[in-house]
Amino acid sequence: MVELENVTKSYQVRTGRVDALRDVRVNINQGEFVVLRGPSGSGKTTLLMTIAAMLQPTSGSIRIEQNDLYAMSTRDRARFRARNIGFVFQMFHLVPYLNIVENVILASQTAGRINPSAQAGELLTQLGLAERASHKPAELSAGEKQRTAIARALFNRPKIILADEPTGNLDGENATSVFRHLSEFHRSGGTVIVATHGAAAEKFADKVINMREGSIESSA
Ligand SMILES: Nc1ncnc2c1ncn2[C@@H]1O[C@H](COP(=O)(O)OP(=O)(O)OP(=O)(O)O)[C@@H](O)[C@H]1O
Ligand SMILES: [Mg+2]
Repeated sequence: MVELENVTKSYQVRTGRVDALRDVRVNINQGEFVVLRGPSGSGKTTLLMTIAAMLQPTSGSIRIEQNDLYAMSTRDRARFRARNIGFVFQMFHLVPYLNIVENVILASQTAGRINPSAQAGELLTQLGLAERASHKPAELSAGEKQRTAIARALFNRPKIILADEPTGNLDGENATSVFRHLSEFHRSGGTVIVATHGAAAEKFADKVINMREGSIESSA
């Protein structure tokens, strides 16, 4: 479903060039739950961003269901991303001025939806946030913020959810809850790719990919 062929990504910096991804080849099947591991700086975030259609690689190709992400126009890529990909960040990235219902529908394709706010409210209820619907992010705990971000990622009914250290700012209990929700999406047929240092993830994973210095070291 997700196919990376000879993907490289280099960043130009003052002191020279950083090769963040070196000739990465990976295939991820539909419905797989993949955990991405590796030391800091090994390229996990860079890899996730390229798969998320948010960061163009320096060379190589990334296909999702045969669609070559960086051969499309910017507009088509944005549409493809909105329809197919949900993203969860370590730092939540909620908009502080909006309540959580508004945050969930903010990045959504609401055209043609009947009552998007009510649908967002339902999703938030499933994530245990019914009482918080009118709250702004600053009024939530870290775990609640991340569950809101998961609701936002789920709202467009994506095929894939990508998560970058989604439990990096959470305690054990909230981390488990995040993985439980990702796992529920996975059980309903979704594909999940999550970069994480936490051990909690492994019992949910079908596959673990280890990265080192921009390359895939092993995959089991
Ligand atoms: N915008 C950028 N400009 C220059 N170099 C960058 C940029 N983003 C990342 N890098 C470099 O690319 C390499 C891979 O970074 P990346 O953020 O993908 O690693 P990571 O595995 O996610 O690390 P961490 O576990 O700390 O989040 C690192 O050497 C990093 O310094
Ligand atoms: Mg990272």
